Formats: sequence, C-alpha cells, structure tokens
Amino acid sequence: MCGIVGYAGPVSGAPSPRPVDVALQGLARLEYRGYDSAGVAVLDGDQVRVDKRAGKLANLREALEGRRETPSAVAIGHTRWATHGAPTDGNAHPHLGGREQELALVHNGIIENFAALRAELEADGYPFLSETDSEVAAHLVAREMETAGDLTEAMRRTAGRLEGAFTLLAVHRTAPGTVVAARRNSPLVVGLGEGENFLGSDVAAFVDATKEALEVGQDQVVTVTADSVDIIDFEGTPVTDAKRYTIEWDAQGAQKGGYASFMAKEIHEQASAVADTLRGRIEDGKLQLDEMKIDEAVLRTIDKIVVVACGTAANAGAVVKYAIEHWCRIPVEVELAHEFRYRDPVVTEKTLVVAISQSGETMDTLMAVRHAQEQGAKVVAICNTRGSTIPREADAALYLHVGPEIAVASTKAYLGQIAACFLLGLFLAQVRGNLYPDEIAQQMEDLSAIPEKIQEVLDSSDQVERLALEMKDATSVLFLGRHVGYPTAMEGALKLKEIAYIHAEGFAAGELKHGPIALVDEGQPVFVIVPSPGGRDSLHSKVVSNIQEVRARGARTLVIAEEGDEAVLPYADEVIRYPRTRALFAPLLTVIPLQIFSCELATAKGLDVDQPRNLAKSVTVE
Ligand code: F6R
Repeated sequence: MCGIVGYAGPVSGAPSPRPVDVALQGLARLEYRGYDSAGVAVLDGDQVRVDKRAGKLANLREALEGRRETPSAVAIGHTRWATHGAPTDGNAHPHLGGREQELALVHNGIIENFAALRAELEADGYPFLSETDSEVAAHLVAREMETAGDLTEAMRRTAGRLEGAFTLLAVHRTAPGTVVAARRNSPLVVGLGEGENFLGSDVAAFVDATKEALEVGQDQVVTVTADSVDIIDFEGTPVTDAKRYTIEWDAQGAQKGGYASFMAKEIHEQASAVADTLRGRIEDGKLQLDEMKIDEAVLRTIDKIVVVACGTAANAGAVVKYAIEHWCRIPVEVELAHEFRYRDPVVTEKTLVVAISQSGETMDTLMAVRHAQEQGAKVVAICNTRGSTIPREADAALYLHVGPEIAVASTKAYLGQIAACFLLGLFLAQVRGNLYPDEIAQQMEDLSAIPEKIQEVLDSSDQVERLALEMKDATSVLFLGRHVGYPTAMEGALKLKEIAYIHAEGFAAGELKHGPIALVDEGQPVFVIVPSPGGRDSLHSKVVSNIQEVRARGARTLVIAEEGDEAVLPYADEVIRYPRTRALFAPLLTVIPLQIFSCELATAKGLDVDQPRNLAKSVTVE
C-alpha cells in the first residue's frame, strides 16, 4: 500500500531529466501498490518543487510533460492508496514541510498519533494543507532540522516521535544531493548504482537501473547520496551489517510483454513459475530445503501447524492443510492472520507457524508472526519478495521465485505458494519419518510433472475465454468444491469479485443443502470443481450428485473435471478438462480456468484488470 521511490545522483547543477525520469519509472513499477494519486518532488535551486495529481500516474506524467529537466540531483516520488483523507491533489504526496516549505516528504504507512502531533504543530504555527496523517511527519522533520541542522539527525528524532507504521523519505533544500529515509514496519530497500543510488518500497522501483540491493532493517534511518549509503538505527548507532544481495528479477518481469494485462501475463507464466519454485529443491528425487534453518530436532517435536495468511494466500494455506495433515499426521489450522492474534490462540513452543505472503509485507500477517513468536512458536515464511519484512523476521523463509507479481489479483504467486508449501510438507514428512523415502521421491516426481500439465491447461483456454465473453453480464456466480476443491472454489469466487465486481461465492459442495442451495434458480451459473474419479472413495460421486442437485433447480453447470471423466457428462452444460494428477496436486491445475475466466470477463467488461477499484497489492495497514 503506497509505493515510494527515491533517487540521488551527482550534484552538478546542470539540468537533467534523470531524477524525474527515475522517479516516474519507479512509480510506474510500484503503481500496483496504490493508484489514488501520484507525486514527485525535486530541488529546483533553493526551492522545493512538488508536482502531484489525484488519479493514476498518467495524470502526473501529463502534468510533468515538458518539465522533466531539472537541476535537481535528487527526487522522491509516491503513489498513494488513501487512508487518511480523500484521494485529492491536496492529499497526494509529497507533502511540503516547514514554515517556508523547505522540505518535501513522502510516507507509506499510518501515523497513529498524528492528531496530537498535528495539534502541537499547528499551535507552533506550522501550516497544514492536507487532511493526511503524513503531513505531520513533514513538519516534524522540518522543525527538527532547524535545531539539528542535519537531515539524518532530524529524521532520526522525528522517527522517535511517531507511533504506527512508516517508511518516510525526505529531501531538504539545504541538502541538495541527499535523500534521507526511515522505516518502521513498512518496506524499504536500497538500490546501489554506479554514481547514483536508489530507494524503493521494493526492488521493482529501480530494477531497470541496478541489480544490486541492500536490505534495510526495522527502525533504521538511511542517508543516500550519489556515492554513499549510510545507515543508523533509531538510537543513532551505525549499522554495519546491512545485507547486500543481487536481485533475481529482471525488468522484463515488470513489463506486460504483449499481453493485454499483467494479470493475463502472470496467468500464462504459471508453468515456468511453478517450475522455478521447484527448481533446485528436488535433486535426484530427494528433497533439499537448505533454507529451512529451523533445527530438525525442533521440527520433530512440532505437535501443531498454524497457517496464517490473508486473501488468496489464505486460500493457498487452505489447500495445503489437506496435504500436510495427510503426509505428516500433524493437525493444521488455517487462520486469517487478522483474526488469529485477537482471539488468544493456543500457540506453544511446539507450534510451527507457516506465514504465507506474496509481498512479505502484509501487516496483518506480520503482526500474527510477531504474536506467534512472542508465544515461543517457530515461524516459517512462504514469500515471494526478497528482503521484505516477514521473511526477515521469520525463523526460516522459503521463497517462491515466481518473479515479480504486478497485477493486484494474485495468480502465479498463489500457485507458487501452494507448490512451496507442498515442499515444506514433504520436507516435514521426510524429517519426521512419516513417509518412506521412496514415497517422497514418488510425490516429488509427480510434483515435477505439474508445470507441463499447467501448460496443457493454459494451451486449452479458448473454451473458458468464450464462456467469459458469453457471461459478461452475469450478476452472480457460484463455485462449489469438496476437499481441496473447496479452497479452489473460494479462490475462484475471490478472483471474480475483486476484478470483475461480480457477486460470487465459493462453497463446500456438501454445505449446499444446509442453506446456499436456496440461491440457485433458473440460469444461475455454478462452477463445480470435480475431483478425480480415481481419487478418494465416494468423493467423486458425491460431487457428481451435487452437480445434479443444482442442475435440477435450473443452474447452468460449468464443470471442471479430469480428462476422461465420463460420469459428469449427463449433468454438465460445459465440461472444462484438466490433466490427470494426484488428488492433492489438482488445485495447481483446476484453479487456472477460474483465473482465466475472471481475467477475460473483467477485460470484456472494459475494467482495469490490473488495478481493481479500492484495492492495492501489499496491504501494509491493519
Ligand atoms: C487477491 C490478493 C490478496 C492477497 C492478500 C495477501 O488476489 O492478491 O487477497 O493475497 O492481500 O497478500 P500477501 O500475499 O502479499 O500477504
């Protein structure tokens, strides 16, 4: 939520478009984090110049047309997901700070004590131009600068006064080559260039310019110039062990590459995405998880697993519960992270918490992780974004390696999360001796065959594309499944709600007769995810009965069934096929038609598929 970018180049005084261009480019890459407004600040002589516009980045670009050249050596930029104050030009960032508007600042997060600070600053004569919580930080840094005379120290003192979550970036007219940043509970990474340096909410902000990055820890202040990066903690002690790393993602990953939307592109990348999640972790049929830094002796004592996650990541957790319980015989609870910590959950030193988060920054999940660690639990993070907070704070981290996911609606990360959790489950079974080595090898072989099967599903997407066009005026769609098909139904419904704004619900098919079947009348579209006929006893026939039940009440049945499953034919208005695989691995295939359906339907409705209304990727507020 909210994307921030910073740039520091050489101080020459010669006009150049570079600082503004870097900021705009970074904001374009970060726009998925919020698109209510965008803005950029530079230093123009001894003036701080701010350009900001409500609405998408295109509005700011237009405002800056012909004005990108500036003598400034620095730039800071922001793309907003509104929390305090409507999405207007005035509430857009950067905010000016100081009585003479000598500073500009951008903020990601929420300053919880802003009301008291605003009253104090107003009493002191500081003019407020917005309704945001962020503007207090701009004035505080400016006021501290008056006594400290040093931007780093002014930022450090300001950070000490703020409660809540924040990443702040500031430039000041007396510090022409410097950008200073501070972070607590919101993301920040440094990009190390040659003769220039960068700051960003994530590496996508500067991946075009450099592949070298530096992780910034909690409660740290970073001072960046063209040729230096200095980090101190909030006590003022220099930080010398910041972790440097090379970014694996390439700029290509953050471009649409000929697809109509990032979501379409990311759906079609899923075969290679899952292959990348598995790569290097299966060797000669054996499972290698070097990143599992938790002692194997501890893993053998675990008596419960709790998966904490939100949204799509929670649906991934709900899928893998079936697998881990089956393989490891450990009870697995799946809990929405925001519900977890407020219900006094039973968590002990024998609990393993699995935190699933594409961004690694979701505040609800982060708070659940901290709560679990306070109770003595060990935490494994399943994340995609290197250097983000959740994997940094967890006891071990398994990365997805699926590349940057730009579309707000998660698709390839969902598959990567499921695949990574399968690896975790099999690893636990290996360590705890629940499965024989040859059983694990067999499972791994079947898992390794999944990317090819994903490609088969993607290659036969015409039918779902046609259905999406036909159904573009639908007002309600239901999704049914049992066992691992149930979370798949939930995920299918979530995708349709969030990008096509259609009322959609996912149900456990067995629950139908306990209430939801009353929703079904003539023409109601119902997707049904059917398990393999060769799978668990009677599960297949139960789902086939459920198809009959809704059809008898007039539903239009859209059935997702395994290749060769003839039993569904009499009751299906449409049959969408998926290749044969193990029952537990089927969610890696059966969700794909549902993703394509939502993406195509939203596109047919003329909606912004990548940036659906009211949403943002990476939800860094609770
Ligand atoms: C839906 C979606 C969200 C996220 C959720 C958690 O398509 O993307 O529901 O899954 O906000 O985000 P992460 O995985 O970043 O913690």
